[in-house]
Amino acid sequence: MPVGPNLSETPRCARIRKFSETFIYILLLFFIYPISLDQEEYLFERYLQSFNKSYENDTIYHKRFEAFKESLKRIKNLNSLRSNASATYGLTKYSDMFPEEFSKSQLVLRQPFKKIKNLKQNVPRSKRFINTTSFNLPQKVDIRKKRAVSDIQAQGSCGACWAFAVVGIIESMNALKTGNLTKLSVQQMIDCSDYDYGCKGGDICTLLDWITTFDIKILTEDTYPLSLASETCKRTSKYGSGGVKIEGFNCESFVGNEFVMLYILANFGTLAVGINAESWQHYIGGIIQFHCDSSATSLNHAVQIVGYDLTGPIPHYIIRNSWGKDFGHDGYLYVAIGNNLCGLAHEVASVQVL
Ligand SMILES: *[C@@H]1O[C@H](CO)[C@@H](O)[C@H](O)[C@H]1NC(C)=O
Ligand SMILES: *[C@@H]1O[C@H](CO)[C@@H](O)[C@H](O)[C@H]1NC(C)=O
Ligand SMILES: *[C@@H]1O[C@H](CO)[C@@H](O)[C@H](O)[C@H]1NC(C)=O
Ligand SMILES: *[C@@H]1O[C@H](CO)[C@@H](O)[C@H](O)[C@H]1NC(C)=O
Ligand SMILES: *[C@@H]1O[C@H](CO)[C@@H](O)[C@H](O)[C@H]1NC(C)=O
Repeated sequence: MPVGPNLSETPRCARIRKFSETFIYILLLFFIYPISLDQEEYLFERYLQSFNKSYENDTIYHKRFEAFKESLKRIKNLNSLRSNASATYGLTKYSDMFPEEFSKSQLVLRQPFKKIKNLKQNVPRSKRFINTTSFNLPQKVDIRKKRAVSDIQAQGSCGACWAFAVVGIIESMNALKTGNLTKLSVQQMIDCSDYDYGCKGGDICTLLDWITTFDIKILTEDTYPLSLASETCKRTSKYGSGGVKIEGFNCESFVGNEFVMLYILANFGTLAVGINAESWQHYIGGIIQFHCDSSATSLNHAVQIVGYDLTGPIPHYIIRNSWGKDFGHDGYLYVAIGNNLCGLAHEVASVQVL
């Protein structure tokens, strides 16, 4: 995993927009492969029209066509193991990119967790005591129904997924505690966190460490609005009225112990996690159950988990993303529980608000 601030000129965890037309997905699902070159060219032309794409010259056209053909195969493969409830994959505006190009430009590894020297004591575990003798999880938890999850945001080409995920859980925990769902400032985190890299990347635990170490008050979005660029920290705003402070946080690995994540979701509130979003390039909907590498070094994105559902054939988490409402299920995705899928149990953050 690359380290250090000089990691990248390319934005991390940048936005991937969902393609609004559905015909190509449907076509792909039922296509018998291999398809002929004519059919591929036809699909490519339709794709270019639908996404309003054109290229400078023939060389580029042919390169993009090659990438597109690879995407078709990849999508077919991604859909191959699916049952009714599994995730569906299809064409997106990135389907004319080779997978390596996509990863390089959209999902450069997020920064690893950097501990700050005078790290404050995390919240004692006793506060989150798990009584395993009375371990009785509800079948379904959806914190959105408690009016404690704010609207989906779009990070655009600003690689600040880490800030969206952390501010998301603080908003939720604050709402669960006070009954007041207030939109808090992601931009303040982007501008002010000394240990993250603004729109060029960051880490959920590093951010939480910074917030608690320096006793940072997270201002409201109204006070410190979103601009989606790395700007100078407006220090004076730090003392403005309103806003939320956190008492402490926990960053833990729950690999092999995902039931604890469910327990926290059911009894305490939402979680922020590091995750591998590489295969999400082609995600259209459903429950991601296959094709999502779970190694610790594959984490390249961060999201908020707002609930789970154990009732269907594939128990899954409900994931709040920051790629706009036009991605996935109105901005949400589902990922299966239990196999550290997409690496989501490696780095799990929870907070307690004051
Ligand atoms: C398509 O692209 C052209 C040229 O960039 C632009 O002028 C036009 O508004 C676009 N149309 C749509 C529907 O996005
Ligand atoms: C096509 O466009 C690319 C990018 O501008 C350029 O590098 C390349 O030389 C062009 N190729 C031809 C054959 O014009
Ligand atoms: C999948 O859906 C089809 C059509 O709705 C249905 O006939 C079939 O039983 C379903 N299969 C499973 C495994 O749920
Ligand atoms: C754990 O739960 C059981 C059953 O509800 C209860 O009898 C027991 O006292 C609990 N233990 C603690 C330490 O709270
Ligand atoms: C909710 O919080 C905001 C910002 O802190 C505050 O302006 C508002 O009055 C609060 N609303 C209620 C009902 O407490």
